[in-house]
Amino acid sequence: MADFVGAIDQGTTSSRFMIFDHGGNEIARHQLEHEQILPRAGWVEHNPVEIWERTRAVVETALGKANLSASDLVGLGITNQRETAVVWNRRTGRPYYNAIVWQDTRTDRIASALEREGKGDVIRRKAGLPPATYFSGGKVKWILDNVDGVRAAAEAGDAIFGNTDTWLIWNLTGGPNGGVHVTDPTNASRTMLMNLETLDWDDELLSFFDIPRSMLPEIRPSSDPRSYGSTRADGPLGGELPICGDLGDQQAATVGQVCFEVGEAKNTYGTGNFLLLNTGEELVRSQHGLLTTVCYQFGDAKPVYALEGSIAVTGSAVQWLRDQLGIISGAAQSESLARQVGDNGGVYFVPAFSGLFAPYWRSDARGAIVGLSRFNTNAHIARATLEAICYQSRDVVEAMQQDSGVHLDVLRVDGGVTANDLCMQIQADVLGVAVSKPVVAETTALGAAYAAGLALGFWSSTEELKSNWNEDRRWLPTWSDEQRAEGYAGWKKAVQRTLDWVD
Ligand code: G3P
Repeated sequence: MADFVGAIDQGTTSSRFMIFDHGGNEIARHQLEHEQILPRAGWVEHNPVEIWERTRAVVETALGKANLSASDLVGLGITNQRETAVVWNRRTGRPYYNAIVWQDTRTDRIASALEREGKGDVIRRKAGLPPATYFSGGKVKWILDNVDGVRAAAEAGDAIFGNTDTWLIWNLTGGPNGGVHVTDPTNASRTMLMNLETLDWDDELLSFFDIPRSMLPEIRPSSDPRSYGSTRADGPLGGELPICGDLGDQQAATVGQVCFEVGEAKNTYGTGNFLLLNTGEELVRSQHGLLTTVCYQFGDAKPVYALEGSIAVTGSAVQWLRDQLGIISGAAQSESLARQVGDNGGVYFVPAFSGLFAPYWRSDARGAIVGLSRFNTNAHIARATLEAICYQSRDVVEAMQQDSGVHLDVLRVDGGVTANDLCMQIQADVLGVAVSKPVVAETTALGAAYAAGLALGFWSSTEELKSNWNEDRRWLPTWSDEQRAEGYAGWKKAVQRTLDWVD
């Protein structure tokens, strides 16, 4: 058997390819960013062809760096930014429109109409999601309704939909020359079109969006010994390799963090933050603004579900300090600037750039910086930005505790922002629980590799994967209870301002 597993991680800002060994150690990686296309306020698009080209390049480069070829890999897993919707022609392989990204709010009216027409509760019950701009269904409807010729092409069976997992698998396995059109339940559970109990597309939900079933990919297990298909020998892998793992990136990180037991949770700090709590085979319906989602489905086993708190803007607020305000030159500087002050100086920043996601679900909310006085400096703004990352996570943890009764002793973290030591200390302080980071912090790609490797017998069981997890760093709370309560009360007041703005 070959010694390694490959994983493609197609994220919101970049695509990367990573190669792991049996111990879950990284052997090689390469990563390339793609353009963020912002045609209007609230609109966010990606070019699917650019994403495919960047993916090709990162695969070729990482293999080259490690001096490996397809024959050294046992198989391939895919993980991806979820919800981002691509519609393309199955005969030519050409997208009809740019990918509409999960952060895009153009479908606000579609979401509010669903609620007004009384369909919201059906979507909540069947799909586990509130009607919101975040999910794929409204984005596909928007393309069908607004891009010339797409509805007719869909009705003729030519226009097909996928998230970026589906788009990449289709291209890797042959594209117009016989690409397979598949996804997994974790990705499908983010569309508002899949029934969480049957794990199949739901005709009633499809009718709400007027989406023909023929556009949709086949839903296959997240880890599938039958393999979705093989990479083409003339593709970037340069050989035929079974693709056996497919997970939305946040579910992949949950797998990479080996949260296989009920009550285990992880928080990933990327463009946004995504906290997932494993609820096992039980579908827990949130009463407090969380999503019910599929965590993973391995082979023939029953699906495992999760409660999720999705936060749209966390790491991207740090990027905003760099790109729009110009008060830092890079992400690392957010830490050194924030360290110049001992506290937020009364300043709170609520980065509601895409509205507010969990637990508020208010797409009409807009960002605010409040509590300013002449005393404040850039350092307070930087500190308030890091605190916003942590307070938004606290909002989600509170909701999770209310929904599940699970009280976290420790929060497992991963993602780019976990390199920010101050931010992780603030997270422990704001929550009052320990924060723990694993040695292999690339848990998203690792989770996709695990899904593929389990299917192929490279790893024998989830028990075996657990022994690969080792702690790198732990942050313990230092604030007093009063300090924590006072800080959080200020945050809640600031959030209220962003909601009042539009009321
Ligand atoms: O739901 C959106 C999420 O999947 C995006 O994750 O890491 O690409 O920002 P990321």
